[in-house]
Amino acid sequence: MIAHNADPNQSSDMRPRKGDNMQIGSRRMRLAVTGATIVWLIGVALVGGGNGMSTRAAAASSSPSNKKAEWGAVLSNACGRAAFVQAGAQAGPPQRPQMSEEAFKNVQVLKGIPVDEFMGAMGLFSAALSMCCLECHAPDWAADTPRKRTARKMVQMVETINRANFTGRKVVTCWTCHRQSDRPQVTPSLDVVYGEPIYWAPDDLFQQAAGAPSPGQVLDKYIEAVGGAERVARLTSFVGKGTASGYAGAFKSPAEIYVKAPNQRTTIIHTEVGDKTTTFDGHAGWLASPVTPVPVMDLTGGELDGARLDAELSFPGRIKQVLGQWRASLPSSIADRRVNVLQGTGAGGAVATLYFDVESGLLTRVVRYANSAMGRVPTQIDFEDYREVAGVKIPFRWSFAWVSGRDVIELSEVRPNVAIDAARFGKPAPAVRR
Ligand code: HEC
Ligand code: HEC
Repeated sequence: MIAHNADPNQSSDMRPRKGDNMQIGSRRMRLAVTGATIVWLIGVALVGGGNGMSTRAAAASSSPSNKKAEWGAVLSNACGRAAFVQAGAQAGPPQRPQMSEEAFKNVQVLKGIPVDEFMGAMGLFSAALSMCCLECHAPDWAADTPRKRTARKMVQMVETINRANFTGRKVVTCWTCHRQSDRPQVTPSLDVVYGEPIYWAPDDLFQQAAGAPSPGQVLDKYIEAVGGAERVARLTSFVGKGTASGYAGAFKSPAEIYVKAPNQRTTIIHTEVGDKTTTFDGHAGWLASPVTPVPVMDLTGGELDGARLDAELSFPGRIKQVLGQWRASLPSSIADRRVNVLQGTGAGGAVATLYFDVESGLLTRVVRYANSAMGRVPTQIDFEDYREVAGVKIPFRWSFAWVSGRDVIELSEVRPNVAIDAARFGKPAPAVRR
């Protein structure tokens, strides 16, 4: 639905843009009218016992609509969004992750992929068509609705297009055509062609651009901006307390964060239905949530790499080591602020794009990707409200957005350099549903 007059690539910039327009009566319009551009309810649970999935929501991520109505809707299996649901949910040492066709009843095309990747694909469908899960899934997950059948044909069409024309590279995705609409536009809109220019955003993956700043300079400026290498090195842990809320700040839940250098991090959101805990212990990561299939799940693949990156980037001093092969694109803009755009590749091949405010030098956005059968699944973290803690500027507010859910964390109190019990970074206890 987003119509751009010049969008040279599939942008990694998920913001609504200048030049966005809405077709009267379109799905996007309808959603916007209800007060939620995106109804982000986190928490579709994969329920054991072979009955596939049931929808429940955590307060973690939600639309700004009426709270009661929303919980009612959620509990009655109305419009919910998938939380990040992991395969390999079994506890213990590495096992072959559970495959989609083993976990679900009626998988015909997206076979042979782990459950988390399958859920990533579902998140991409929802994002591309601006639909909530249940617009394709009713009365239950396995049932074939007409729209689900169409979507299945579209999966095959997309695979055919990529195989026949692009040597199988996943360059055409649901987003390529749909852009948040159920009916992709056919004809160029001249209002858009001659409309306001949009922000330029770089490709998902890019090389060092001619005329772009040197990555080293941008990173050095960032280290200086947050307090300088010396002070940064002296910040070795912190504990933060505050709130977490979903889209547009509706109902806040208490939240806590524990971070220890170089790479341990735990975030706990005390949602209405139970605690949602994300932990990276330096090697392994978990998500314990009252609304996911098992009360505590292992993170794997791109999502594990992402959890590692989040932990490492909590301490600015590590930034040059956590990613390598740094390259810069031409500068871009975020909300009318000029940003330098760097990209780095992690040891395991994971790619992340980092945006630094040109003027302040601070890190304002990280976009990272996990691969899925239907294309890259983005996670975007936007940092704001940097405040000094033990002489180092750290963000007190950030939003954590996935294709199917967004949390906004706001800290009110941060205690630097405190001893944190090692158990904080251990595998979280199974979440209990309240
Ligand atoms: C545009 C339509 C569409 C949307 C939106 C969508 N799905 Fe699906 N979903 C499908 C299709 C198509 C399949 C079957 C895939 C196959 O056959 O390989 C499927 C299958 C599933 C299954 C397997 C059910 C079973 O038992 O066989 C689950 C679970 C699922 N989707 C969850 C979700 C969740 C959670 C969301 C929201 C994030 C979602 N879907 C959004 C189209 C959709
Ligand atoms: C090459 C362009 C293109 C791509 C890529 C594409 N679609 Fe579509 N899709 C269309 C068009 C065009 C229509 C509307 C067809 C019509 O009007 O009859 C459509 C319609 C649909 C519909 C029916 C919507 C409704 O309820 O009316 C669904 C569902 C759908 N697409 C899902 C997907 C999914 C899922 C993907 C990715 C796997 C995808 N599409 C990729 C072009 C595309």
